[in-house]
Amino acid sequence: MADIILGIESSCDDTSAAVLRDGVLLSNVIASQQVHKDFGGVVPELASRAHEQNIVPVVSEALRKAGVAPADLTAIAFTRGPGLLGSLLVGTSFAKALSLSLDIPMVMVNHLQGHILANFVRQIDKPVNEPSFPYLCLLVSGGNSQIVRVNSPLEYDILGQTIDDAVGEAFDKCSKMLGLGYPGGPVIDRLAKLGDPDRFHFAKPNIPGLDYSFSGIKTSLLYFVRDEMAKDPDFLEKNKEDLCASFQKTLIDILMGKLIRAAKETKIREITIGGGVSANSGLRERIVSEGRKRGWKTYLPEFKFTTDNAAMIAVAGWFRYRAGERTPLDVAPVSRMADY
Ligand code: KG4
Repeated sequence: MADIILGIESSCDDTSAAVLRDGVLLSNVIASQQVHKDFGGVVPELASRAHEQNIVPVVSEALRKAGVAPADLTAIAFTRGPGLLGSLLVGTSFAKALSLSLDIPMVMVNHLQGHILANFVRQIDKPVNEPSFPYLCLLVSGGNSQIVRVNSPLEYDILGQTIDDAVGEAFDKCSKMLGLGYPGGPVIDRLAKLGDPDRFHFAKPNIPGLDYSFSGIKTSLLYFVRDEMAKDPDFLEKNKEDLCASFQKTLIDILMGKLIRAAKETKIREITIGGGVSANSGLRERIVSEGRKRGWKTYLPEFKFTTDNAAMIAVAGWFRYRAGERTPLDVAPVSRMADY
């Protein structure tokens, strides 16, 4: 009998549900919350309320699109953490209620594990292109920046991670500072395409090993813009594109420097990226060009699987389900989750 998994994702500001049959995606519905736009960031209380409104229609739509009845489901995979607690509570409580009423098991998933396994979402009529184990994943999102050695679907070693801000946070905070709005990544990415990446230079951190730091570059950009504005009040407006291009290039240089080192040290040449920042066009191009130069096999998740989505949660949940994992009904969501 086929395994039909319902995935539920509600860790931040996207309510998403997906249906997977034996690893093949049948539907993936995402309701992105617009209420946060005016606030320059996600407002946790508003996010939970929007999830509460969205969860029933989103799950119903995912089942309808997949042509699957609730009674056909084998198990429910849901994001337990990390994320905003109020948001996670909505998805977790919904998963519990459905599991209880249908008398089927539920399987918890670490949200980051979803990003790491995003390349394993199989789609009808699309060729399979999956990395072999072990592979390295550059996991870059609004809350995390890690280099992960993925030994098998469920076994990971974190080789390096940020000691302060995540790279997505650097994009978002600097965008706010430059008056470009939220979320910062997509705006900076768009403007960077129009600018000169070698025009300005920002200090890069000197952190030992494979760890990252992204808090210093924010300050570096802030002081630079402040000093230039003192000389010419129109500096920002005149140089927006070059600033974005140079800033983005610096972030990509930092990310790639450690990834190249990790690949050398581990001798692993299967390389993937995951998380919201993996949508960045500059980073995607650089991974591919470095890969060509260094003999890596690179795997980029499709854009729709880079930001938060339930398809990746369903895939991770399916791996866990097949490994015999079951999550008891008294599970509670957690805002931080160190273990995969
Ligand atoms: O993975 P994600 O959707 O949420 C979590 O943090 O879990 O990542 C969101 C982050 C935000 O910081 C956003 O600015 C960034 O991903 N992002 C991008 C791009 N699209 C989204 N950063 C750089 N370039 C992009 N095109």
